[in-house]
Amino acid sequence: MPITNDDIARGLRQHPAQISPKYFYDQRGSELFEDITRLPEYYPTRTENAIMQRHAADIAQAVGPGRTVIELGAGNCSKAEALCRMVRPACFVGVDISADFLAEAVERLRRTCAPLDARAVAGDLTQGVVLPSDIPRTGRLVFYPGSSIGNFDPPHALALLAHMRELAGADGALLIGIDLPKDVGVLEAAYDDAAGVTAAFNLNVLAHVNRLIGSDFDLGQWRHRAFFNAAEARIEMHLEAAEPCEVHWPGGSRRFAAGERIHTENSYKYALPTFTDMLARAGFARTQAWTDERGWFAVLHARP
Ligand code: AVJ
Repeated sequence: MPITNDDIARGLRQHPAQISPKYFYDQRGSELFEDITRLPEYYPTRTENAIMQRHAADIAQAVGPGRTVIELGAGNCSKAEALCRMVRPACFVGVDISADFLAEAVERLRRTCAPLDARAVAGDLTQGVVLPSDIPRTGRLVFYPGSSIGNFDPPHALALLAHMRELAGADGALLIGIDLPKDVGVLEAAYDDAAGVTAAFNLNVLAHVNRLIGSDFDLGQWRHRAFFNAAEARIEMHLEAAEPCEVHWPGGSRRFAAGERIHTENSYKYALPTFTDMLARAGFARTQAWTDERGWFAVLHARP
């Protein structure tokens, strides 16, 4: 599946303007996201890891050995490594939009979890994942950790879960991480850290877009904004023009007033019953869930 980006110019022309969060993940963006996962304010990664460790035996029992693990948005494969130690899969397939970053990570995984048949597949899950035909069709576990499902609004999240149900097959399962609703101060700090790493991550999307469509965004003219939208149960990230500016690209241009924003990301926070209901509607009727003691994050195993 070719990775197209004609949606970028379209999004820039909209009112308000928007850029899909998938464009965060060029090489630099993937590295910055890795830095985010280690920030003191960014609780999701370490909370999910703690759940996986604390409930390792139960999760391994639910998943079963010898699976074909298909991880969507595998990134640096650090979660894959932990999972592979727990469940000893027969085959691992990492799918990610950041192809080179993924290829290196899968290479490392092959060494650290040897012997493991580990593959890297460059792909954009918003376009539908198509796996090479020699990937086993039975015993599949779709792995979608990190609350990445939160990037999609509920109708798209439901459609994506239905796609994962197809990908998993009749005897397959899904292991997914979701971020739960919590204190607004905790949420907002996680997306606007004191060290400014999330700000750099957000701004980097403009450098990536400049390379992809030949635009001339001046990063110095834009500010990071992140806040919780309670009505929509989501964190929103935006880039805000600090001064009036005009951006050009081959085939178009757009003027921005001071204070005008580009919406770059939503990160939905689902209550457990709401999400379990969505899983059921996507064809995953049987779910088991594990959470941390603060109830901040959940890992769910779901079967048709
Ligand atoms: C990778 C989508 C799970 O929403 O928490 C982190 C991305 N954005 N900080 C999230 C992100 C800003 C992250 N996900």
